[in-house]
Amino acid sequence: MTVREVLPGIYWIGAIDWDRRLFDALIPLPEGTSYNAFLISGSKKTALIDTVDPPKELEYVGNLVKAGAESVDYIIVNHAEQDHSGSLPMAAELFPRAQIVGSEKCRDLVVNLLGIAPERFLVVKDGDTISLGDKTLEFIMAPWVHWPETMFTYLQEDRVLFSCDLFGSHLATSDLFVDDARDIYHSAKRYYAEIMMPFRSNIREHMTRLSSYDIRIVAPSHGPLYHSPDSIFGAYRDWISDDVKNEVVIVYVSMHGSTEKMVAHLTSALVERDATVRVFNLLASDLGEIAMSLVDAATVVIGTPTMLFGPHPVVANAAYITNLLRPKTRFAAVIGSYGWGGNTVGILKGMLSRLTAEMLEPVYVKGAPDSECLRNLEALADTIAARHKQISGTHP
Ligand code: FEO
Repeated sequence: MTVREVLPGIYWIGAIDWDRRLFDALIPLPEGTSYNAFLISGSKKTALIDTVDPPKELEYVGNLVKAGAESVDYIIVNHAEQDHSGSLPMAAELFPRAQIVGSEKCRDLVVNLLGIAPERFLVVKDGDTISLGDKTLEFIMAPWVHWPETMFTYLQEDRVLFSCDLFGSHLATSDLFVDDARDIYHSAKRYYAEIMMPFRSNIREHMTRLSSYDIRIVAPSHGPLYHSPDSIFGAYRDWISDDVKNEVVIVYVSMHGSTEKMVAHLTSALVERDATVRVFNLLASDLGEIAMSLVDAATVVIGTPTMLFGPHPVVANAAYITNLLRPKTRFAAVIGSYGWGGNTVGILKGMLSRLTAEMLEPVYVKGAPDSECLRNLEALADTIAARHKQISGTHP
């Protein structure tokens, strides 16, 4: 249990989850995570911003005690996902006179997910403010980063942006601040890839909006806070842009070696054509690392044998997740081999319907790869290299 001063009157009262290794029963957390929550003590009133994941509830209560929070007037809920709102019922009980503040959609969610009494809730709209005396909280609606109810809270006098999940990182660290996003670039990019990438266009709009705010500190709800927005905003501008890099991501599974041989041959052919290639055997790869590679890659290639009548189920899972993440990948292709039939290529194309990528000619062969198959893989490498040269914005 630790309380740390962000600025005078602004205290971090969250929890560091050093041991957590999985989020949403899906996303690996190799570096743990944190749940940032804050106490804002104004000259007249006091507010809490967010709570913590329920298993860390006692730490949160301990921090409230340590911070001397005897009465609270407002509990701000920037986001209803339970890693930030899960201890809200406890906080609401602890401070029975506090109003719970959030967007209209947030009210629906906390009522339904957490059993919060609707009459406790104060709905705020974009641009609304609440005065704590010498501190003013302004609410900025920010839907779809990454839930529909999400909002930011901007503390006007201190110029602190509480940005909720946006700009966060799943990183358990004792450092409250990081000076430069490059110091935690890998964690921040991984977080973007796993959580935020499907919402690139929404983030663009929100960042345009934020450019009119004078921001001194960015305080996301996971990972360290930023002393200045420049470095993390710069990284996000790069990730959400339409620019792609001369990179090919190959994800594959091989049952008896044929698809693996094809992946190896295509990889060599692409390297010879000066592409950067990242190869992921799905049986031994981290989902977050794959997602990160998809942030910038111009092309994704899926390698799979046919199992019965379609793609290997492990590949189908990866295709499903790729479709959800919706990377800005421009080109996609399927390679692999089959024994007697099936519709693997057609099924995978259907599974990638949310991608705007051009589907390149597949290389899908009966049985083991023969010399013609290897030539076709080299032709695919030629096509990829030519496409990468054609598209503007691609850089090595
Ligand atoms: Fe960190 Fe969307 O919750």
